[in-house]
Amino acid sequence: MDQEQARQRIDELTDEINYHSYRYYVLDDPEISDQQFDAMLAELQELEERFPELQRADSPTMRVGAEPSDQFATVEHAVPMLSLDKSFDDNELIEFDRRLKRHVGMDSDESIAYVCELKIDGLAVSLRYEEGTLVQGATRGDGRRGEDITANLRTVRSIPLRLRSDPPPVVEVRGEVFLPVPEFERINAERAENGEEPFANPRNCAAGSVRQLDPSITASRRLDIFCFGTGEVEGTTFDTHLEELEMLRSLGLRLNPHVMAVDSVEEAREYCLGWTDKRSELDYEVDGVVVKADSVHLQKRAGATSHGPRWATAFKFPAVEAQTTVKDIEVTVARTGQLTPVAVMEPVFVDGSTVSRAILHNEDEVARKDIRIGDQVILRKAGDVIPEIVKSLPERRTGGEKVFRMPDDCPVCGTEVERVEERVATRCPNLNCPARRLSLLTHWGGRQAMDIDGLGEVVAAQLLERGLVERPEDLYELAAEEVAELERMGEKSAQNLIDAIEESRDRGLERLLFALGILHLGRTAAARLSDHFSSLREIADASQEELEAVPEIGPKIAGSIVDFFSRPENEHLPERLEARGINIRRVEPDEEAGTDLTGVTLVFTGSLEKMTRAEAEELVENLGARATSSVSGNTDYVVAGPGAGSKLEKARDLGIEVLTEDEFLDMVSDR
Ligand code: IVH
Repeated sequence: MDQEQARQRIDELTDEINYHSYRYYVLDDPEISDQQFDAMLAELQELEERFPELQRADSPTMRVGAEPSDQFATVEHAVPMLSLDKSFDDNELIEFDRRLKRHVGMDSDESIAYVCELKIDGLAVSLRYEEGTLVQGATRGDGRRGEDITANLRTVRSIPLRLRSDPPPVVEVRGEVFLPVPEFERINAERAENGEEPFANPRNCAAGSVRQLDPSITASRRLDIFCFGTGEVEGTTFDTHLEELEMLRSLGLRLNPHVMAVDSVEEAREYCLGWTDKRSELDYEVDGVVVKADSVHLQKRAGATSHGPRWATAFKFPAVEAQTTVKDIEVTVARTGQLTPVAVMEPVFVDGSTVSRAILHNEDEVARKDIRIGDQVILRKAGDVIPEIVKSLPERRTGGEKVFRMPDDCPVCGTEVERVEERVATRCPNLNCPARRLSLLTHWGGRQAMDIDGLGEVVAAQLLERGLVERPEDLYELAAEEVAELERMGEKSAQNLIDAIEESRDRGLERLLFALGILHLGRTAAARLSDHFSSLREIADASQEELEAVPEIGPKIAGSIVDFFSRPENEHLPERLEARGINIRRVEPDEEAGTDLTGVTLVFTGSLEKMTRAEAEELVENLGARATSSVSGNTDYVVAGPGAGSKLEKARDLGIEVLTEDEFLDMVSDR
């Protein structure tokens, strides 16, 4: 076959396969068998291998996933991707309609024609087509700038690589990439089998898949898309949103089948309420309905606020409740010694994720809600919001239920617990409690503390179990040969750990203070204290009043510090640390090191009030930190705002420091 014949055949195959992909993935109406399809694809692949220069930009072989990359490039959206104001019930929807009419000078008895669409719970993306070919795919990012995820989006079969019919020279398509629930379940089952952490819900899984640096992973997850609008469009205009959607359909893009045009807000209300009950019938997650004024003329008159367009609203479905049984109430012990009751429930799938644990906060709450072991309970959850046991169902009791009491002794070490009345909290006071010791040791080595690479939970647990280490300062007397004896630890990694420990001696007062794991003492307080005092000895000797004189140090933190240093086990702590070669003095930050958040991993959850999520993420990234979407053992901080959900719960379970938005801003403004 010569070059010209190859070109012809490649062109033919590319067009054919793209057409059949469209029949299959967009219209859900295939014309040929899977085998025929695969055969064409195989032929194309072979030809492209022989004639790589003939591969077209819209070749379906690109869908298998390109080479992994290190990071995503930034993409400026030609037209910003706005978000939407929300309506939390039907009254707020009616109010939205009234406001809109007032704003554009319509009479209250006139009606606005709306288009109702399901609000797909996925990830907003923008697809840029030039001369009909997909040239760029991007995440929403902060609305103005997103990330270039073209290689990943090419693997989504329902995204056309080439538009059909007569496309405008430039069109940016906006849509929601999502993961169908059955596919989500398949992925989680597979992960469970491989011993990997499951995704909390389909949206997290979709977001994680789309932001994969390795497109072949994205390709292995069957993502899908529903398109709902446009950004920049050259050469065409529309009078209505429906026309816009019709154009998208004719270009071969996939639209949600439940789009409905209505004549008034009352009909929109019916649609919203109807889907509130019916949404569970869908095999993808929706978290509400988007109601958009249909007339483009009206849209222009209405304009937008910084939140979003005045002509559209997101009607949010109410929280969902589910019934399940409390199998047990476990008590967990955190680094600070705090005991937290956690309800362990029969797993239930509620509003997009499987829930089996709910934090009960403290004994008083368990008593107030009268939750007993064995009780049937009502669990409430909305979107990413933390699942909560609303109430128990006493009428369902059979007599075998057990009233929960906070143990008198720590469930891990058996030491008698302390009640901290003003916080209705219970604490294990034993600093040697294995649960506390382990989390203290890993906290000590954490990136924000002494930053010891290689001192993860598994290694720390072994060091404690073998009695090689009792308290963090013992790390500094370890020998490489002792470390090499640990399971799955070779000589080389043992030496690396010893080197990392060695290097950590000189982190200085601020990090050391934080590393000690003193109750209530976070990074910000540690920074303030180290601005004020020059060594740990001074802090250990300081009185409550002297400590409170430091900006941002209140009675709670001051009291906790005094209490810490007055404990017998902490007697002469500064001297003991110094004897192990640990620098207990303030180190003046030099320009290079320690002045930024390099290497720190944060997770934002819930809503932020002073900035958008994207702005916050950009901020941390500029400081050298990383904002990730899921909480794991590698997470240093979780910044939680109102409505924080399962991530917050997980952070607490893992003993990760949780910051409010203000605390986070404080922390970054220190830098
Ligand atoms: S329209 C200016 N339509 O919801 C119009 N958004 O809160 C803005 N979404 O970022 C978007 N389904 O990620 C629109 N049918 C739909 C949607 C939808 C899901 C998401 C989208 C957007 C967010 C707005």
